Amino acid sequence: MAALMELSSPPAEHSITHRPIKFNITDDSPRFWFDEDPFKTHFFNAFFTTFPPGEEFFVRSVLYYRDQISDKKLAQDIQSFASQEGSHANSHQDHLEILHRQGYTSLKRENILIDALLKFMNKRFPKTSLVNTLALEHFTALLAHQAFVDSDIFADPAHEDFLPLFKWHAAEEIEHKAVAYDVYMAIDGRYWPRAVAMVFATIALLILLPIRMSPLLFHDGLLFKWKTWKNGLPFLFGKNGLFTKPWRHYLSFYKRDFHPWDVQDYEFIKQVQQMYDDGTLLDIGKKSAA
Ligand SMILES: [Fe+2]
Ligand SMILES: [Fe+2]
Repeated sequence: MAALMELSSPPAEHSITHRPIKFNITDDSPRFWFDEDPFKTHFFNAFFTTFPPGEEFFVRSVLYYRDQISDKKLAQDIQSFASQEGSHANSHQDHLEILHRQGYTSLKRENILIDALLKFMNKRFPKTSLVNTLALEHFTALLAHQAFVDSDIFADPAHEDFLPLFKWHAAEEIEHKAVAYDVYMAIDGRYWPRAVAMVFATIALLILLPIRMSPLLFHDGLLFKWKTWKNGLPFLFGKNGLFTKPWRHYLSFYKRDFHPWDVQDYEFIKQVQQMYDDGTLLDIGKKSAA
């Protein structure tokens, strides 16, 4: 039976690197920056701007257990995880401020509520907070994985101001995908709480995202236009949709011996690391002048 619970590992060269960066997203960046499509853009606007309160919640949830972790590598990974998620939250907050100035004011109001709710959860239900964190981290890791695998559909249509943020965040989500999971395995590890948390997290996301998207589409006068939904829904739920295509990856979380590194996708991080090191990350997606 011991083999059943043997967990996968990242490659030997794996480490979690903090890569602070200032992106080129400004008030002059195009409003419909993803595929020039309002639905797809507002899906990502709604999703990305949930990260500031969401990722701060992840960090609090994991840091709460730091003192109970004796494994030195995992303790170090917790610190690096917190640094990465802190930078992600800041970058997406910058984007949120721009959206707010453009008149999409619902997001900030919603974030105040989300932040208060998540802080309450951290305070009153630290274990539930942790187990929901690892469920949501599975989501970010699988969407990041899919964005790299189907780069031409899910990442490359992003405008050049946004593409570096896309790639950077996706790579780092893959890089730290096992931290919350490993902390949970070290302090508890029971199967059912994490399976239930995943069901809960899935339902919460499926409810939250349309709630956040609707005022954005309404602001643009597009919420009740059939064309908006006809073009947009297949992008998420069609045959090759962002949510439908990785269903196997999603379901793998429900296996009793699941581990995030069952999927070995470290090569995606290497691509981004290379661009970060040689200073070309902010240039990706720039159209040739020729
Ligand atoms: Fe993140
Ligand atoms: Fe993350």
